[in-house]
Amino acid sequence: FLKAACVAAVALVPGVAFAACDEGEVVIKFSHVTNTDKHPKGIAASLLEQRVNDEMNGKACMEVFPNSTLYNDDKVLEAMLQGDVQLAAPSLSKFEKFTKQFRIFDLPFMFKDITAVEAFQASDAGQAMLDSMQKRGLQGLGYWHNGMKQMSANKPLLVPTDANGLKFRVQSSDVLVAQMEAMGASPQKMAFSEVYGGLQQGVVDGQENTWSNIYGKKFFEVQDGTTETDHGILDYLLVTNIDWLNGLDADVRDQFLTIVHEVTETRNKESTAVNQAAKESVIAAGGVVRELTAEQRQAWVDAMKPVWAKFEGDVGTDNIEAAQKINM
Ligand code: LMR
Repeated sequence: FLKAACVAAVALVPGVAFAACDEGEVVIKFSHVTNTDKHPKGIAASLLEQRVNDEMNGKACMEVFPNSTLYNDDKVLEAMLQGDVQLAAPSLSKFEKFTKQFRIFDLPFMFKDITAVEAFQASDAGQAMLDSMQKRGLQGLGYWHNGMKQMSANKPLLVPTDANGLKFRVQSSDVLVAQMEAMGASPQKMAFSEVYGGLQQGVVDGQENTWSNIYGKKFFEVQDGTTETDHGILDYLLVTNIDWLNGLDADVRDQFLTIVHEVTETRNKESTAVNQAAKESVIAAGGVVRELTAEQRQAWVDAMKPVWAKFEGDVGTDNIEAAQKINM
């Protein structure tokens, strides 16, 4: 037991190799914040870990640290720049300190579904965004999908005015702050790892997230119910330290990037199904799910869409137009 405890402790010290690593292998630590099963990111990260450890044995080794056990999303990018972690997949909402381009993904009702998001990301504009933080030391390796966001609170939410005066947790994004303010709510930025406690203790009254996060972190247990608003998207950037990537031997880098792209493609195709299953699990566990009539949904659109104008300068009118064309 002592030995096992010792290995576990060593594994958490940045810079020290862990169980899957042999002498001389490139060490790849992947820190993220969600659970691992029934979750698009958790499943993709585990698959990546498995494939790197199987196929690159002798050259590289990977360990995934899920559930904010190593860093939360507010810290992970700094840790990456310091070389303490090599991979992360924060949501696109969490890059504000590095670029404002990703704000397009947070604008409410910008994309009608994840297929539209995928098409925009595959466009020249979307692909160029992967390289938009190179000067800041970060390289995007690909977009990982989660899904559409839903809205939950400690009281029923059917029209936006139901949110008046409520405190909502948001990710660290000024677009999401503006979105909640447009509903007459008061937004509070909070790390993902704090949300369950924040809802349970009434620090905040509600939150927005995907089914896989609402199920994975049991938010539904401490909320009156969840309303299927599909009002925005939550997607990730798989990101690395550009100097680390450039420092790899070419064959190691090529093999690693090939595995990354294959895992991205395989798992992105399944993200909607994973969220659907999580929604069913919420219902099976007794969580209340509310659907909107077309009229009610239009009221959410009318309340939130004015937020676009505020951020048009950051995201570009041409990008907004391109996104809207994809939706048609
Ligand atoms: C959140 O903070 O709500 C999400 O970005 C967490 C995640 O990684 O899905």
